[in-house]
Amino acid sequence: MDLRMQGTVVLITGGGRGIGRASALAFGAEDVSVIVADIDLAVAESVAQEVVAKGGRATAVFMDVASESSVEEGIAAGVAVFGRLDHLVLCAGVSGLLGQPFDEIEASAWDDVFAVNVKGQWLPVKYGAKYLRASDQGSVAIIASDSSIVASPLHVPYCTSKGALLMLVRALAVDLRRDNIRVNCVCPSVVNTRMPKIDTGMAESDSFDGSFPVHEASDIANYLVWLSSPVTHTISGHALVADFGFSGESSFPM
Ligand SMILES: NC(=O)c1ccc[n+]([C@@H]2O[C@H](COP(=O)([O-])OP(=O)(O)OC[C@H]3O[C@@H](n4cnc5c(N)ncnc54)[C@H](O)[C@@H]3O)[C@@H](O)[C@H]2O)c1
Repeated sequence: MDLRMQGTVVLITGGGRGIGRASALAFGAEDVSVIVADIDLAVAESVAQEVVAKGGRATAVFMDVASESSVEEGIAAGVAVFGRLDHLVLCAGVSGLLGQPFDEIEASAWDDVFAVNVKGQWLPVKYGAKYLRASDQGSVAIIASDSSIVASPLHVPYCTSKGALLMLVRALAVDLRRDNIRVNCVCPSVVNTRMPKIDTGMAESDSFDGSFPVHEASDIANYLVWLSSPVTHTISGHALVADFGFSGESSFPM
């Protein structure tokens, strides 16, 4: 299928690792120029080099999505390289406070999770929208989580922050419809990246034991590319749940 994205530009937050890195490679393979944005500039630069080594176009920028000035400066720096911005793909996120009972969590630690996982998804749209308006295929694709719809134990701040993204996506989709900018999200269950490994006490180099289904980061990257492409031009405000069908199961004892 021709996704018809050739010559467009994407900015990917959290692009230095995991789903963001896989997305940078997937967009690069579609002839999309990639701005890799990450709070860890060294890994962002390394991913940009990977995209270029595969024949694509990419640059790296520093960005802390929780900081308004950093987001504004990072987007401006990326657009200065490629001259336009068509797609935002928002993968920067933190797990934060897994295993802590809700009544033992410091309010400041709660705020830290929301600063990245919620405010940090809105700020790139705030500063990217003026560029997306000039595109004929402006789109925003956010990584929410299956934790947006089903809660894992002892993970209240993360699950709540991911639930908030479902409404952020709908509300932004409504406000940006008149500008022909689409806003969607993907809600994956466990993905083979460092985040769930650190969460569960594994080393980054460890493999999951096969007792539950796990996505590869490239699976989620492909869904993000597809939702960003004009092939899905009639879809906005949508949450694509990728959980191997788990959330559809009832408690009926069969
Ligand atoms: N891996 C999973 O099982 C899974 C499942 C569902 C949802 N998600 C979500 O997918 C997204 C990506 O997760 P991942 O598994 O690729 O994680 P990861 O830890 O592999 O990568 C996250 C990247 O985000 C960057 N980052 C963190 N805070 C940042 C900030 N303030 N500003 C800019 N960059 C920042 C990190 O430096 C890192 O490069 C997150 O929002 C996560 O909640 C992950």
